[in-house]
Amino acid sequence: MKIKVAPQADCDFQIIGIFEGEKEKGIPAYFKGKLGQVEVVSNKIAVGLGKRQKFDLEAVRTASAAAIKKAQEVKAKVVATEVHGVGGLGAEECAKAVVEGSVLGVYKFSGYAKEKEEPDFEVNELILVECDKKKVKPMGKGAELGRIIAEAENHARDLVNSPANKMTPTAFAKLAARVAKINGLKFTELDPKEAGMEALWAVARGSNEPPRLVALEYTGAAKSKEKIALVGKGITFDSGGISLKPSKKMYEMKCDMAGAAAVLGVMSLLSDLKPKKNVIGIIPLTENMPSGKASKPGDVCGSLSGYTIEIMNTDAEGRMVLADAITYAKKRGATQIVDVATLTGGCIVALGDVATGVIGNNQKLIDRIVAAGNQCGQRMWQLPLYDEYKESLKSKLADIKNTGESGKAQPSTGAAFLSKFVGDTPWVHLDIAGTAFLGKERGYLPEGATGVPVRTLIEWLNS
Ligand code: BES
Ligand code: ZN
Ligand code: ZN
Repeated sequence: MKIKVAPQADCDFQIIGIFEGEKEKGIPAYFKGKLGQVEVVSNKIAVGLGKRQKFDLEAVRTASAAAIKKAQEVKAKVVATEVHGVGGLGAEECAKAVVEGSVLGVYKFSGYAKEKEEPDFEVNELILVECDKKKVKPMGKGAELGRIIAEAENHARDLVNSPANKMTPTAFAKLAARVAKINGLKFTELDPKEAGMEALWAVARGSNEPPRLVALEYTGAAKSKEKIALVGKGITFDSGGISLKPSKKMYEMKCDMAGAAAVLGVMSLLSDLKPKKNVIGIIPLTENMPSGKASKPGDVCGSLSGYTIEIMNTDAEGRMVLADAITYAKKRGATQIVDVATLTGGCIVALGDVATGVIGNNQKLIDRIVAAGNQCGQRMWQLPLYDEYKESLKSKLADIKNTGESGKAQPSTGAAFLSKFVGDTPWVHLDIAGTAFLGKERGYLPEGATGVPVRTLIEWLNS
């Protein structure tokens, strides 16, 4: 979909936004203007903006997604749209949000079917109409920014939606190498076993697919010693290992590399956005499978940090691979660490699929990331890291156990495990188990992978 800003437009369809309870000439009275409601009237697509008092950038995204989906349904090739909210919320921000909502809203995973009921239809061009010459430039900037960020988030969605037999650790590592090459990032690829990543290897050893750890490094502040590490859980399939998961929804566990996909998505944007920061993306990649070679509950393994780990549950594998990836981040000089992981089912129990769980050891950093999430419509909710959670991981055999008491505060105990490897480095952990993958579509989020939290991290790195 091509996108531009212009004072007027020759188009098939024109999108107009209407606030709830407000009338517009030519639009039928039964159109109430509820957020995301759409109605086609001759060549106009009316879209509800919801209540004027509740209107914000997230409403702009939701309305834009609803409208462009309707445009697609009526097979409009060239679509013009008002930039909703432009008076009050700012020209650049609104243009960005319209484009984000539109590009994220039309996303569809293309899949592998040879036979399709109907070929996919794509809107060719979206024109943001603005007559005020002073606004055209900031809008153009906002639109372009919105486009590249939303496309990166869509790309992350593609990786997560890909089945685990295609998105293997090797395939993911190849993609990461390509992203690094295209964007001029320093690239490292390691064999975890050779590199002494014993915790990662304890997870990988049950699988026939070789594990990998990849790192992509962007230098935006060569003189600074500060370095942000983004660490993404990359379990390309989580069967649970010997602590096997129930089969009912096991197929969803191809999504267990959503953290890795988000980190790669963010890294792919940095050479375009050029933030004045140093950022290293670190991605541990493996399957978690049962086999005669797999780790067993009760086994003890080492780790890159030197700490030994008693494996109580092989399904708590995310924290094992992250432990080594975090240690590696520190070895590479990280001064701040943000990890992104589909870590615990308990996070879904606590927050559903509506908010990402946030836990960390540095309140300032937590606040910044939560604020960035709120700014771009990716809700974040802080959960605690009390000392009791750390106590619950005490092992009689090793330095730490990989799980606490069954069924208790899983997101917090998971984070408590990670905190041992993080040490004093400022750190935030994002548990995206609920928000990474949806059972059914919602607003501009499709069924399946959402791409969370690419936009949050970009918002934070750009601020
Ligand atoms: N990948 C899962 C968490 C998950 C569950 C992600 C549902 C997305 C949807 C993780 O590896 C896991 O299995 N965690 C265990 C932790 C437990 C053993 C402490 C869980 O959630 O049961
Ligand atoms: Zn697991
Ligand atoms: Zn997992």
